[in-house]
Amino acid sequence: MTKKQAEIFDIEITSLGAQGDGVGEHEGTPVFVPGCMPGDVATVAATETRRNGIYADLISIVEESSDRVSAACDHFGKCGGCQLQFMSPDVYGAWVKERTTMALAHHGFAPDLVREPVITPSGTRRRVALKALRVASGVVLGFNERGSHQIVDVKSCPVARPEISRLLVPLRSVLADLLPQRMAATVHITLTASGLDILIDAPRELDLAARECLVEFANAHDVASLHWQDQGFLDPVAIRREPVMDFAGAKVPLPPAAFIQASGEGEAALVSAVVEACAGVGRVADLFCGIGTFTFPLAKDHQVLAAEGAKGAIDALQAGANVAGPSFKQIVAKHRDLFRRPLSAKELEMFDAVVFDPPRAGAKDQVEELAKSSVSRIVAVSCNPNTFSRDARTLADGGYRLDYVLPVDQFLWSPHMELVGVFSRD
Ligand SMILES: C[S@@+](CC[C@H](N)C(=O)[O-])C[C@H]1O[C@@H](n2cnc3c(N)ncnc32)[C@H](O)[C@@H]1O
Repeated sequence: MTKKQAEIFDIEITSLGAQGDGVGEHEGTPVFVPGCMPGDVATVAATETRRNGIYADLISIVEESSDRVSAACDHFGKCGGCQLQFMSPDVYGAWVKERTTMALAHHGFAPDLVREPVITPSGTRRRVALKALRVASGVVLGFNERGSHQIVDVKSCPVARPEISRLLVPLRSVLADLLPQRMAATVHITLTASGLDILIDAPRELDLAARECLVEFANAHDVASLHWQDQGFLDPVAIRREPVMDFAGAKVPLPPAAFIQASGEGEAALVSAVVEACAGVGRVADLFCGIGTFTFPLAKDHQVLAAEGAKGAIDALQAGANVAGPSFKQIVAKHRDLFRRPLSAKELEMFDAVVFDPPRAGAKDQVEELAKSSVSRIVAVSCNPNTFSRDARTLADGGYRLDYVLPVDQFLWSPHMELVGVFSRD
């Protein structure tokens, strides 16, 4: 990567790259411009050259694409959260599909395997991680600028659930009373089935006055639970109701900051695809199961083995399973590091279907065992089309057929997305 002398030129944008940047060509070299879309003609300043082309900053739009729309958020342009909100819903939806198709094409899969994407609407994100910094005038609270540690002070957020967005202003003032000058904090807010769950991570021990201030805040805003984390030490400051998630009617306690899907709507689309793909089979293994997003809906019809590496998550799933009631079939919860000890092809023999939903890096070793197995159906849930496509190639080389891929975008206007891929072996 080389830094360029800022060369300025005009460029016509003709496509979108994997990160949603506008792509054009300058003297035969691809140019990537954040904030541009096909149909734009723009004046840009080249900033650096990388292996795949030139990266440039937008200076001004000379001619606007007819597919541009006005951004829904006042913070658009600065906040790094939702860079793509200037695209019409049609262009944005087509790009989500294209992003999946491009990743699959690198590993030899045809574009017609990709279904029309599910795009979650704005106002549905139920999990956010905000950055805060105490400055002389108060507290800056929001998201980082794109590619920077600078915080954009956000007073409301159109992608978040209104219950979360409404909290931003009062949260800012309570933090101003608690954080000393220049102290930074991270605030995780999750909307659970029993209300708001907040975890504030800041290197400060709470005295009695600070505790009272937080309890008052929790009471005033009907916060279900509020934890303070001081250098790894988790302090349950105000637990007014236990935070729980509801999966197909099963109530599962949510450990502080544990993984859940980013929106209820996204979760519903993923669960419905997973349940549909497993219909009609016997035993199912749910690998990288978290606290049981897929386990409980699957257990309505199947015996399920749920395996997960995070102890807090699998204990929560077990607690939910213990009280789940007779409408659920047997759930066996297993604490297991699936990177170091993937389920072997032999162990997989007892399952008719396997669902796996690994972190961004994918599940290379587990997939190698799956590729050797006799499992008749495999359902991959992924938040990374690139590692998904790599793992899909391993399964295809092991004799599995990729039936279809459903993109599910629950990070509206950002380059992040999820997908479900369904594989079968005759
Ligand atoms: C993308 S989340 C999916 C969780 C769950 N399927 C859901 O939808 O809520 C990935 C999960 O993989 C788990 N995980 C990460 N590394 C792991 C490992 N080495 N072994 C087993 N599980 C792991 C994480 O704790 C997390 O729960």
